[in-house]
Amino acid sequence: MSTFPERRLRRTRRTPAMRRLSTENHLAAAQLVLPVFVKEGIDAPLPIASMPGVMQHPLEAIAGVVTDAADAGIGGIMLFGVPAVRDATGSGAVADDGILNRAIRVAREAARGRITVQADLCLDEFTDHGHCGLLAADGSVDNDATLEVYAEMALAQARAGAEVLGLSGMMDGQVAVIRAALDAAGYSDVAILAYSAKYASAFYGPFRDAVESTLEGDRRTYQLDPANGREGLAEAVQDIAEGADYVMVKPAGPYLDVLARVADASTVPVWAYQVSGEYAMIELAARAGAIDRDRAIAESLVGIRRAGADVILTYWAREVAEWIRAGKDLA
Ligand code: PBG
Repeated sequence: MSTFPERRLRRTRRTPAMRRLSTENHLAAAQLVLPVFVKEGIDAPLPIASMPGVMQHPLEAIAGVVTDAADAGIGGIMLFGVPAVRDATGSGAVADDGILNRAIRVAREAARGRITVQADLCLDEFTDHGHCGLLAADGSVDNDATLEVYAEMALAQARAGAEVLGLSGMMDGQVAVIRAALDAAGYSDVAILAYSAKYASAFYGPFRDAVESTLEGDRRTYQLDPANGREGLAEAVQDIAEGADYVMVKPAGPYLDVLARVADASTVPVWAYQVSGEYAMIELAARAGAIDRDRAIAESLVGIRRAGADVILTYWAREVAEWIRAGKDLA
């Protein structure tokens, strides 16, 4: 009787029970974060055309969204504001009664410590030109002038009760400046999530719909070149040195190599953002009958985890938490 092949790797894949025994990576609801859009001046949820299944919520709905996410065991919600009025300096971002800061207050109250309240810290939703910072006279994004506004924005978010600030603007020095501003004002407990390796990506397309932002030009002078891996690592290392509590890679799916490199090198937890375009691709392909929706979602998320993410921001957080709870076979 032949013994070839000597090593039979299929042995451990024979039955579902055998396969479960060998599963290396699991999704946990506590490590999923749900992005939530809050729109000023509406009184009922509005669907986002390019993100089927995702809504813009009125402020009045936020308490319910938070309670529901907490009940589902999700680890956090990341709030994004859609203001009624925008201007050149994004003043709605720093105003205590700006839509995002109001939403943070409502969310923190509703959370009752059961789920973390997080906020996007960036100006693009609040500026009329759509850039993440202030523009200089020549039209370029002025790094250091922007840092001053970010510090104000961080303080407004901390006052409102945000527990994790998601620094997504890609300005140099933003982590250090915001950490110093928070500490000086007595907010040393507020954590910083640095969107460290944030790429200039076409996969943010549907997000523009979600926040109704139009961009003049592009973001390539501050977001990373999709061709560069080492630079993503450099950004994460720099952010950790500046005091980031968490670092993030974004988008997730097309940047799993960067995620793996950052995860290898990081001394803080690593997050990944499965962005709007990644969401839309799977939803629309499934609607066209091209792929099995649920399996594709599960595979995309476990792939992100396998690459090294501790925490994943995903628009499917709510649904996947339900799957996990029900013990659905995610394979
Ligand atoms: C910046 C920000 C963006 C996203 C999250 N934070 C947009 C951008 O930088 O262009 C995109 C998220 C997504 O596409 O799901 N406020």
